[in-house]
Amino acid sequence: MKNSYDDRVIRYETVTNFSDDMFDELVRLINPRDGQAILDCGAGYAPVTQAIISRHPSLDVDYCILEYSEIQLQRARKEVTQLLQLLGETKCVAYQQNSAAAMEYDDNSFDTVVTKMVLHELPAEDQVKMISEIYRILKPGGKFILWQTILDDSTVEFYRNMFRKKDSLAGYESLVENRNFITQDAFYFLLSEARFHEYELARSFTYNFNSKYRLYSELQGDWNKLRMLNEYLVSLVIDEGAGFSEKTKFTFEDDNVSLFFKQGVYLAKKPLTNE
Ligand SMILES: C[S@@+](CC[C@H](N)C(=O)[O-])C[C@H]1O[C@@H](n2cnc3c(N)ncnc32)[C@H](O)[C@@H]1O
Repeated sequence: MKNSYDDRVIRYETVTNFSDDMFDELVRLINPRDGQAILDCGAGYAPVTQAIISRHPSLDVDYCILEYSEIQLQRARKEVTQLLQLLGETKCVAYQQNSAAAMEYDDNSFDTVVTKMVLHELPAEDQVKMISEIYRILKPGGKFILWQTILDDSTVEFYRNMFRKKDSLAGYESLVENRNFITQDAFYFLLSEARFHEYELARSFTYNFNSKYRLYSELQGDWNKLRMLNEYLVSLVIDEGAGFSEKTKFTFEDDNVSLFFKQGVYLAKKPLTNE
């Protein structure tokens, strides 16, 4: 099956409410230092690496960018190169096309691994592999920073269905097949199984889903598809009941379904000594 990320060339900052402030917080948490090696895992066009570089242009960091999609990797290379040119900086940036579930990096090679909105892209068995791979490649005491939607038993099924419908209407077959949004508890279980015993939800913020923002970016400007998505979401919200609609501040006006969820940035540390 074709990798739909080779077609999904969108800017997440325009379809979501990801702001500079959120990236400020993320970079503060990463706290990059001279001499460190930092991996942006499932980088897309590398907004995470770009956020670090633009806030700390003269730091001497070894940046590594890992992406599964060739097209996304090309975007990352182009955008990071342009940013460095703009800043007049030369830096070591290594690009690798690979799956986060089977990385070729040596054991204990990174001070920090950051992964933003990626874990849910992998099927369940690969999520287990991804987290244990991240543990393997981190140095003892290294930081694993993960940004994702915070879900629980009352929201996870809705969230899965919402994106499955959107991805299906958009024609993103591999996303329909692979994506697996999980609850915070399931994520904590994955961390523990991989031997990350020290972890916390370090930052959280509001995430606003707007169906209409997907019209031109993902639904090919097809109003009929937007109508189908909206009808589906309205029926899902009705099935969930009044509590859900209040909790997510659901509204439907001007052809737009708006829903609020929470996103979080988690920080886990690899222990200093191997157990
Ligand atoms: C929602 S995008 C997020 C991209 C970027 N981290 C960001 O926040 O803008 C998810 C990314 O994960 C990548 N991806 C999907 N499966 C992957 C895998 N098995 N290994 C590495 N990257 C993967 C996709 O190609 C896509 O670029």
